[in-house]
Amino acid sequence: MDLFEHQAKELFAEYGVPVPTGKVARTPQEARAIAAELFAAGSKKVVVKAQVKTGGRGKAGGVKLADDADEAESLAGQILGMDIKGHTVHKVLVEEGSAIAEEYYFSFLLDRANRTFLSICSVEGGMEIEEVPHDRLALVPVSPLTGIDRAAARAIAEQGRLPEQALDGAAELIEKLWAVFTDEDATLVEVNPLILTASGEVKALDGKVTLDDNAGFRQEHAKFEDKDATDPLEAAAQAKDLNYVKLDGSVGIIGNGAGLVMSTLDVVSYAGEAHGGQKPANFLDIGGGASAEVMADSLEIVLSDPSVKSVFVNVFGGITACDAVANGIVAAYKLLADRGETVDRPLAVRLDGNNAELGRQILTDAALPGVQQVDTMDDAAERAAELAAAGA
Ligand SMILES: Nc1ncnc2c1ncn2[C@@H]1O[C@H](COP(=O)(O)OP(=O)(O)OP(=O)(O)O)[C@@H](O)[C@H]1O
Ligand SMILES: [Mg+2]
Repeated sequence: MDLFEHQAKELFAEYGVPVPTGKVARTPQEARAIAAELFAAGSKKVVVKAQVKTGGRGKAGGVKLADDADEAESLAGQILGMDIKGHTVHKVLVEEGSAIAEEYYFSFLLDRANRTFLSICSVEGGMEIEEVPHDRLALVPVSPLTGIDRAAARAIAEQGRLPEQALDGAAELIEKLWAVFTDEDATLVEVNPLILTASGEVKALDGKVTLDDNAGFRQEHAKFEDKDATDPLEAAAQAKDLNYVKLDGSVGIIGNGAGLVMSTLDVVSYAGEAHGGQKPANFLDIGGGASAEVMADSLEIVLSDPSVKSVFVNVFGGITACDAVANGIVAAYKLLADRGETVDRPLAVRLDGNNAELGRQILTDAALPGVQQVDTMDDAAERAAELAAAGA
């Protein structure tokens, strides 16, 4: 999970990493009130920063300086609602302006290829790290077994060519960021820019943190969840324990096994090209057991997406044989009818694998409205795309 800058900074502050004072605003009026507080506390300038989980906010006009509370309010008005690389700005961080003497770069990350942690430090900061010449970057592996103490942190800052007057502050900050990185089970902690202020302090002016979702069971990461971005259907699917991801096409996809569903997305996209560019509307893996209830829940979720014009049910019978899946589909229709819902869009169903013949017979006998059986995956994808185009 990626954190917003303000969440990253709140976390940094808990670990004693120096960050500018600031608060989050969701309206221009809130931004004004926060700015007024900061000016009253002695800030010379205030910064209004778009909170979106993407880079390059500054370049997109999402980071602006204000000289008074009025200006902060009007800047917040401009930034809130902005679209930055497809992310809508729902909130801004209003914080004290810092007197920047120099901007550096620092990060810890998980280096999967080399099976270690890595720190990156550079005297060149503020710009995208990819643009910094390699000879200006220090890449220092950090063993998870030994970790980092103050001396090791200082050595990294020296290798990044930070100047003498920034070394002590940077070393302390790096040591604390290491605690954030390990204690929070992060896979990335990035500070760009890390600044040296006119008065000689070292501070984190920006913060990017990625938490390892696999460590969720031993962390309290749920509090960082972004409620603005959660798709309502994805939330409903999650509540029913379904692996569902909303996509932007018109062909609803239901399959068993993540691998099969992934390749179904590919064949549908390919087949869809010949039908006006129909594309998959979602990823939905019903997993190993396709009980009637799971099938009913899946159909309900997929059909509640109004952009779905047809549904492709692609099942390869294994431990759960095709007859069980076919019975699941039949029972799902009854369950949905009991819930007062009808399956009002066509289904292309492909059953193959264990007990396929039996499964197909069950569906044929049931003669469910709108269900069309197709024998192969490619042909079924073709049919689903054709049906979606006809329904559009
Ligand atoms: N509190 C602040 N005081 C003074 N200047 C600031 C402050 N915050 C940001 N800036 C200036 O704005 C620049 C961009 O800020 P920041 O790094 O947070 O956003 P960004 O780099 O555009 O976004 P991203 O990191 O998402 O690409 C900084 O390099 C700095 O010069
Ligand atoms: Mg930045």
